[in-house]
Amino acid sequence: MKEWLAKNSFFENILYAKKIDSTNEWAKRYFFSNKSCNVNTLFLADKQTAGKGRFSRAWLCAANKQINMSILIYPKIINSNYLQLMCLCAALAVYYTIESLTNLQCEVKWPNDILINNRKVCGILCETLFYNNNLKAIIVGIGINVYNNRFNEAISKKATSIFLESKKIISKNALIICLLENFNFYYKKFNLAQFDDIINEYRSICTTLNKKIQFKRANKIINAVAIDITPLGELVVKTSSGEIIILNHEEIFYNSIYNKEV
Ligand code: BTN
Repeated sequence: MKEWLAKNSFFENILYAKKIDSTNEWAKRYFFSNKSCNVNTLFLADKQTAGKGRFSRAWLCAANKQINMSILIYPKIINSNYLQLMCLCAALAVYYTIESLTNLQCEVKWPNDILINNRKVCGILCETLFYNNNLKAIIVGIGINVYNNRFNEAISKKATSIFLESKKIISKNALIICLLENFNFYYKKFNLAQFDDIINEYRSICTTLNKKIQFKRANKIINAVAIDITPLGELVVKTSSGEIIILNHEEIFYNSIYNKEV
C-alpha cells in the first residue's frame, strides 16, 4: 500500500507504526523536529495507546481493528479562520468513503462525527501547528472503527463499527486509499479557495440541519434548532427563546440528555 500511496496520492512521505501513543501526537513531534520540511505526511498506526478525541477525551483503540491516521498538511491558504473548513473536508471525505465502499447510509453530525444508525463510526480531530507565532500546518486526525465487534460498556450504546453495521469485512487498506483520494479532492478545492463548494456539499450531507439540539453555554443547557452552516463552517442555531447563536467548537447533543430546560 505504501508504494501505491507514494505514487498515487499527494503524500510524499508516509510513516507507519505498529504501536504509537497517538498519531496526532506523533505528527506533532515530527513537525517540531522537521520544521523546515513542509512535506505533506501521512501517519498510520495499527494501535494507539493514548488516542485523543475532542474535548480532551480519550479515543479508545483496539489493536488492528480501527483506522488510526493523521494527515500533516501545509495548505496554501493557512489561516485559523479556515480550520473548521478543513475539518469539514475530512468529514466529507470519510462520509463518501464509507458510503461508496459499504453502501451503508452514514450521517454527518456537525461538525465532524460520522454516524451510522445514530452511533459514531468515525471521529475527526483537527489541530493547528504554530511556529514562531505563525500558523504553519494542520493535523487532521481520523479514527474509523472498522472491524470492532464490541465496545466497552461506557461507549457501547454510542459507538459502532463498519463490521457491526454491515456484517462485512471491508479492507482497511481499501478504505484508507479511497479516503485519501476523497480527501485530496476536497483539499484541492480548499487550496483553490473554493470554500462555497465545500460548504454547499457539506450542507447537503449534514443531518444536523433542522434537528433539535442541545448545547452548553456558560454552564447553562440551551435547547435550539440547527438552521444553517456559515461560510466558515460554523453552526447557526435558533434557541427556544428565539435567539440566533453561532456555534464554533461547542459540543452538541441530539437526544435530550439533560432534564432541565433553560
Ligand atoms: C473525536 O471524535 O473526539 C475525535 C477522535 C479522533 C481520533 C483520531 S484516531 C487518529 C488520530 N490520533 C488521535 O490521537 N486522535 C485521532
